[in-house]
Amino acid sequence: MMTFLPKLLLLVLLAFPATILMKGPGVAAQDATEDEEAEAGEEDVVDDATAEDEDDEAEVEDDENTELTEEKEEEEEALVGEVRASPNADTIILFVKGEDFPANEVVKFMLGFTNKGSESFVVESLDASFRYPQDFQFYIQNFTALQLGLVVPAGRQASFEYSFIPAEPMGGRPFGLVINLNYKDSNGIMFQDAVFNQTVTVIEREDGLDGETIFMYVFLSGLGLLVVVGLHQLLESRKRRRPAPKMEMGTSSHNDVDMSWIPAETLNHINKASPRKRNQKRSAGSDE
Ligand SMILES: *[C@@H]1O[C@H](CO)[C@@H](O)[C@H](O)[C@H]1NC(C)=O
Ligand SMILES: *[C@@H]1O[C@H](CO)[C@@H](O)[C@H](O)[C@H]1NC(C)=O
Repeated sequence: MMTFLPKLLLLVLLAFPATILMKGPGVAAQDATEDEEAEAGEEDVVDDATAEDEDDEAEVEDDENTELTEEKEEEEEALVGEVRASPNADTIILFVKGEDFPANEVVKFMLGFTNKGSESFVVESLDASFRYPQDFQFYIQNFTALQLGLVVPAGRQASFEYSFIPAEPMGGRPFGLVINLNYKDSNGIMFQDAVFNQTVTVIEREDGLDGETIFMYVFLSGLGLLVVVGLHQLLESRKRRRPAPKMEMGTSSHNDVDMSWIPAETLNHINKASPRKRNQKRSAGSDE
């Protein structure tokens, strides 16, 4: 009780400003931290008071809980009737082609089966399927099962080869890939080993020139050509517009042009041919 009282006081001191702050606007973040501190303080108090008493009980409860969940799991499996792998058999999988699951290309794997027991097994079939990655109970595609019917005597190994092709539209998306090996022992009891049970992403190979990429390149080159033509047109129109005022300046300042270099004969000829020029000539003469 002597340690409990100062902590309660601290709690009140922490909680009191927190309630005041809560009424004020724009202090939401501060409120949150203060509340957390207050809660932490409360927990500490409770822990200290009951820690010693609860220690032993907690241990007992933990044991009971794990036992219960284990039992539940076993019950569920029994209800589903799931076929499991035999402890006397080992399986191994090795992808020899298309380890990265390329769409529209062959994925090939080798499956090794080792009989560790003293009785022979009969390997019945091998199947592979794509499942919905969020729920492996939901089938997306079943691949053809490989029917084997192969007897593997005690202490022997066997290997199987299987290949499949992920469909092209599956590219770029994740799938749950499940590869099952089905076998039975000499008593006829069925076993199933999920040799591979993972979410894989089917990739899209970049190097293949498909219709989409060709269209994209055609479109991009067309766009580039359009930009080049547009820029050329723009530059041309500017070039054409710029010299025009220069020429105008030339005609407007025609009066200032020194005609003295032109031979007199030619000048007379021009003046006779064009009355407009003659006028200009006169005005130029008057300026002098
Ligand atoms: C795939 O096979 C499983 C088990 O054999 C079956 O339950 C499921 O309906 C099949 N799904 C498709 C899409 O063929
Ligand atoms: C396969 O993996 C899924 C998801 O991780 C899991 O729910 C399922 O129980 C596994 N199946 C087997 C046979 O191990």
